[in-house]
Amino acid sequence: MKEKYLKFNYNNVLPFVNQNDLKAIQKEVTNARKTLDNKDGEGNDFIGWIDLLDQMDKDFLNDIQNTAKKIRKQSQVLVVIGIGGSYLGAKAAIEYMKPYFQKRKSLEVIFAGQNLSSTYLNELITYLKNKSFSINVISKSGTTTEPAIAFRALKQLLEEKYSKEEVKDRIVATTDASKGALRTLVDKEGYKSYVVPDDIGGRFSVLTPVGLLPIAVAGINIKQMIRGAKASKRAYKLKDIYKNDVHMYVALRHLLYRKGFSLELLVNNEPKLNYFSEWWKQLFGESEGKDEVGLFVSSASFTTDLHSLGQFIQDGKKVLFETMIEVEEPLKDLTIENDPLNLDELNYLENKSVDYVNKQALKGTMLAHLDGGTPNMLLTIPKIDAYSFGYLVYFFELAVGVSGYVLGVNPFDQPGVESYKKNMFALLEKPGFERLTEDLKKRI
Ligand code: PA5
Repeated sequence: MKEKYLKFNYNNVLPFVNQNDLKAIQKEVTNARKTLDNKDGEGNDFIGWIDLLDQMDKDFLNDIQNTAKKIRKQSQVLVVIGIGGSYLGAKAAIEYMKPYFQKRKSLEVIFAGQNLSSTYLNELITYLKNKSFSINVISKSGTTTEPAIAFRALKQLLEEKYSKEEVKDRIVATTDASKGALRTLVDKEGYKSYVVPDDIGGRFSVLTPVGLLPIAVAGINIKQMIRGAKASKRAYKLKDIYKNDVHMYVALRHLLYRKGFSLELLVNNEPKLNYFSEWWKQLFGESEGKDEVGLFVSSASFTTDLHSLGQFIQDGKKVLFETMIEVEEPLKDLTIENDPLNLDELNYLENKSVDYVNKQALKGTMLAHLDGGTPNMLLTIPKIDAYSFGYLVYFFELAVGVSGYVLGVNPFDQPGVESYKKNMFALLEKPGFERLTEDLKKRI
């Protein structure tokens, strides 16, 4: 039998779940999957990410790659402006694959518009002053405040540095085909633009131009990434949960949730996955946290966080379980050499590799946490590359779609995100919010 690309070991969850419950939940998972496949559940107008992979043609990917090539040629820095789903996927892919320490001459991708820190924006402007740069501004709605503020400031910097024609040549926008302030601006100024498909929400958009362009600019093989996602799609067709790890993952996280483990921690032991966790947190947090239900999702990186959060995970209140991602083959390894003096008392590790130590640490941690009453499960990917990134993306997108339906929510909307915006606009006295402004003033 062909070996699975992604291995899933859930032995350390089984002591916490009852076999009858596992049997019973199969039906719920299967029904949820059918709802997703049949496109007849809530939010079914936002599941374009499922068919997207089959519709992607070579010309589209070549066009993205050509734009990326042009940006690489003309700039030392690409500033990607966006927030939430309009930045996390690209940031996750780039952090996953770029070297930890930037090579001197390579193009740098910097993100902006993902916060409202005046210091961040101010320091970025100073940093860019003597550098050639391009901008990829990304906003599906085209109206989001954070990226709009960053774009205005950085466009002005471009205008100080370059002629009108050159400015136009250095801006690429990714937004809705017809709606939103950004679309109006793009059409008026004649910038090159890519379209965010109507039926794909921000957190599912990493495999659209939203993620693909910045990822390609960073020199990552986007075709390989798509191949990984397609393989993942083929691997997790509707099947019995024992033959479908996405379904098993969904089933186990729900059984744990129902037993009071209402917090899921995504854990890595390779910091290149730290932003993958941020992407994952948005995917699950926005999809499931509504109607007063849902798991709270968080993340950790081991062994770093074993020296901080580890104490709680081991001994604290039994509210969380861990989903761990391990990389089988590290990108690079290092052997621990003999030291004749052995003053650090490390010679017992002579000729062992650092990755071997890392793996034993994870194995030991999983058992310790299990003994402490914290369930944990392990996903193993063969290595860090564009293919495994695409594979994991689709694995979790599919999982959250099915999981949301098991939970009984619409996994594809995010109504809660609007509340802070309304108050912020009122406090900023945005036209149209006068009534709320008066109400809020009384409460402050
Ligand atoms: O998942 C989502 O829909 C959100 O997180 C959005 O991606 C985020 O709010 C940014 O929105 P926009 O792309 O419209 O600027």
